[in-house]
Amino acid sequence: MRKGGPLVDSFGRVARKLRISVTDRCNFRCLFCMPKNPVWLDRKEVLSLEEITRLTKIFVGMGVDKVRLTGGEPLVRKGVVDLVRMLREISGLRSLAMTTNGYYLAELAGPLKSAGLESVTVSLHSLKPDRYEEVIGVQGVFERVLRGIREALDVGIKVKLNVVVIKGCNDDEILDFVSLAREAGMTVRFIEYMPFDGERLWRPELVVSGREIVHKVSERFRLEQEPRESGSTSKNFRFADGSPGGIGVITSVTEPFCSDCDRVRLTADGRVVPCLFSKSSYDLKPLLRSGASDDEIEAFIKEAFMKKFAGVETLLRAEAVPKHVRAMYTVGG
Ligand code: 5AD
Ligand code: SF4
Repeated sequence: MRKGGPLVDSFGRVARKLRISVTDRCNFRCLFCMPKNPVWLDRKEVLSLEEITRLTKIFVGMGVDKVRLTGGEPLVRKGVVDLVRMLREISGLRSLAMTTNGYYLAELAGPLKSAGLESVTVSLHSLKPDRYEEVIGVQGVFERVLRGIREALDVGIKVKLNVVVIKGCNDDEILDFVSLAREAGMTVRFIEYMPFDGERLWRPELVVSGREIVHKVSERFRLEQEPRESGSTSKNFRFADGSPGGIGVITSVTEPFCSDCDRVRLTADGRVVPCLFSKSSYDLKPLLRSGASDDEIEAFIKEAFMKKFAGVETLLRAEAVPKHVRAMYTVGG
């Protein structure tokens, strides 16, 4: 008999959203994410599609109802379309989304849609091809990523864009992205640069705060703030003139909203990561690969989540928090 009941931590926060990193590998080398020479997980360590599905069912049994697949780059994982189909069959799972760099969407958007994927968030950090390719560290792919975005829209997948804003790099393009959001009727989310980069290039001076971004956009377009969804790190705005599209700012550095955080993460090698800002992770694999029952796994996850870190107030002030906890590609966004 499963014990059931929600996944709750010692501060009473309840997990509703699970982010699953399906691989740590990536075909891009974004300067704010990857180290120059990444060391990949041994393939034997990476969970199989069946293992991921089993764990997801256990999480959903505890009340998680939104799942996002991340990486590394989730679309480099073999069988990822099958995984979407397998997860889609879990009853109780309300939403299934993916964060991707968009490179493989041109060919995979159709199959992903048929498998049941509802929405993708595509990372697009510049609208200038040269700059984009400098940021992601790969040449000659800009047009292909744009084609991927168009293909996803054409097959009926909802698309949002993620832009990591870095001072002196792409902060001069904020209004260009806003114009794109309006023209395409899309949501563009500006993400504060977090100190989770492989090369440790992050400096507080390189962060453009959500507040500055909203201020800049408001000088040009009147914005109306949407009511904040509980647990969301994103502040969302629509255009007061009724234009389609919208913007969001993800203030993980200046206003992380830890007090009602409802997320939990699973790494590609089967570790439960209750909080992005804490080094602690809890390895499920030994249990998973030694014939443990669902109940035992559930109990392990609950115990791990109970230890979830209180959180941070702001990464610019909170000196107690190590500035570099982990590189993003090891856990997904
Ligand atoms: N700071 C902010 N966002 C980051 N991402 C990767 N590294 C960083 C960082 N250091 C983004 C990815 C993706 C999202 C999941 O997180 O580009 O859009
Ligand atoms: Fe790859 Fe995403 Fe990291 Fe860029 S941010 S290197 S696309 S995992």
